[in-house]
Amino acid sequence: MTDDARTVPAPDATPMARRTLLDLAVGATASGVGLLALLPAVRFATPPAQPTPGARGSVVGRREEFGENSARVVNLDGEPVLVLALPGGDFRAFVARCTHLGCVVSYNPAREQIECPCHGGRFGCDGRVLAGPPPSSLRELPVVVRRDEVMVVRG
Ligand code: FES
Repeated sequence: MTDDARTVPAPDATPMARRTLLDLAVGATASGVGLLALLPAVRFATPPAQPTPGARGSVVGRREEFGENSARVVNLDGEPVLVLALPGGDFRAFVARCTHLGCVVSYNPAREQIECPCHGGRFGCDGRVLAGPPPSSLRELPVVVRRDEVMVVRG
């Protein structure tokens, strides 16, 4: 017997190790895909942004001035902010700059989504990206409704 014969692994050892490694890789990939599939549901269930203590608010209108399923863009300290009056009476607000290249977005009540006129970016009413090139969600700002005044909080 030569030295080479002693150092060569048994013929079935390498395929078994590869199979085990492949099984682990497939299992890990399937688990990762499964978790990614749950991500939209988790993000949808995320509650709206909450004001931080000491943050300042700007009144953007009275509750009755907003029609249900409508929106307006207001200028807060030089920054456009989209205030949404959602079906059902809740309010949400987002910095109205598209996260792609910064165009001002608007609300499409027929589709109940936020749209960017520049390159077709679309966002849900929770600010998350639905389609197009935007790389991330719109930045949400907390909204407080107090004595029928709608206030956007910035901090
Ligand atoms: S700037 Fe909004 S999609 Fe490009």
